[in-house]
Amino acid sequence: MLERHPSPGMGLLLPVVLCALAACCGATSPPLRFWPPIAHGCNDSGILELAGFALQDINRDRKDGYVLSLNRVSDVREHRQVNSLGSLFYFTLDVLETDCHVLSRKAWKDCGVRTLHKSVYGQCKALFYVNRPGRVLYVLAYNCTLRPVSRRSIHMMCPDCPSPFKLSNPKVLETAAESLAKYNKESASKQYSLFQVTQASGQWVFGFAFFVEYLIKESPCTKHQASSCALQPPDSVPVGLCKGTLTERQLQKFVSVTCDFFEPQAPAPGGENPAANQGPADLPTVEESQQKIIAPTNSPSKAVPKGSVQYLPDLDDEKPEDAQENSPVEAFPVQLELTTDPLGESLDVSFLFLDPEEKKVVVLPFPKKEQRSAECPGPAQQANPLVLPP
Ligand SMILES: *[C@@H]1O[C@H](CO)[C@@H](O)[C@H](O)[C@H]1NC(C)=O
Ligand SMILES: *[C@@H]1O[C@H](CO)[C@@H](O)[C@H](O)[C@H]1NC(C)=O
Repeated sequence: MLERHPSPGMGLLLPVVLCALAACCGATSPPLRFWPPIAHGCNDSGILELAGFALQDINRDRKDGYVLSLNRVSDVREHRQVNSLGSLFYFTLDVLETDCHVLSRKAWKDCGVRTLHKSVYGQCKALFYVNRPGRVLYVLAYNCTLRPVSRRSIHMMCPDCPSPFKLSNPKVLETAAESLAKYNKESASKQYSLFQVTQASGQWVFGFAFFVEYLIKESPCTKHQASSCALQPPDSVPVGLCKGTLTERQLQKFVSVTCDFFEPQAPAPGGENPAANQGPADLPTVEESQQKIIAPTNSPSKAVPKGSVQYLPDLDDEKPEDAQENSPVEAFPVQLELTTDPLGESLDVSFLFLDPEEKKVVVLPFPKKEQRSAECPGPAQQANPLVLPP
């Protein structure tokens, strides 16, 4: 079982790894040492670059919400794999929502960060696989937890700043409907209908002003049919994001609107309606061509856990429950446990490679924050404590 192949290649580590995992080899003769993960500084340029790629991959995997940008690296460990299989990085990233929708597929570096009073911030944990000779940079799993900036603190600093509104508020829907009607009226031919409201706030300035952001889909109706048209769209894929405002002043209404359209996308694997996208499916997207190393694009989607983004309410709204200040409740709980076995479990990553040999990496329980490098967390882009997870 421990026999080595005369010409060691990548595919050969499997029996060795399995053996190590099963602890079958006895304590006396481990064929390969178990290397503990290495802590890196959170301001190292190489680490920042990898963290940027990891976040890009997370954004690319998401179907809704806004693109997340990297505010700072909070923690990073590298677990070098045996037999030059590359490394698994355990990243904890402090992130901020930008003003780009994930469906725009824009790189987070090209997106604007929200103004402080509209900020949504939080933390992501990611298991990032890096194999430079194999040209692989791939997030195997992630989870994020986000919260809106503290309404109470914003209100103290800026009593006149807009405050968030419930997306179901009738005024929010009215603002979306009226601003979209204005957009359609000014549009040459194509008509659009509301897909989903994604953000809403309001402010008193000599009258009430409402600000909304919403996704739109193409309407099959022409301009002339307008409101009398009852045709159902053949698909309901969001095609753009609009920002609308409605100001009411002395019984007068002022409406403004701007819309940004998404680049046509190659159909997402597992998408309900792959025929919906007429985009040039085989051309690399801007994002991909900017990326130096990419995972094979046609990798079959494996039953490997990717992740999700969890939205929690304003922290202020939760304070009353745990009255004592130093309660151990985590403000931004992010769970990313692929295993609880301290020796780790092996994970098949063969699907990331073009050659058919089986490749497995060892995944460990997510490292504890307490053992992170003294150079962590790194410096923040937005250093305001209101948008930094504690
Ligand atoms: C990610 O978080 C969800 C809960 O939000 C949890 O059910 C899931 O197990 C987590 N994923 C991993 C790999 O831990
Ligand atoms: C982080 O790194 C940059 C560039 O290497 C350096 O200019 C900056 O001073 C560092 N910041 C901290 C807090 O170490």
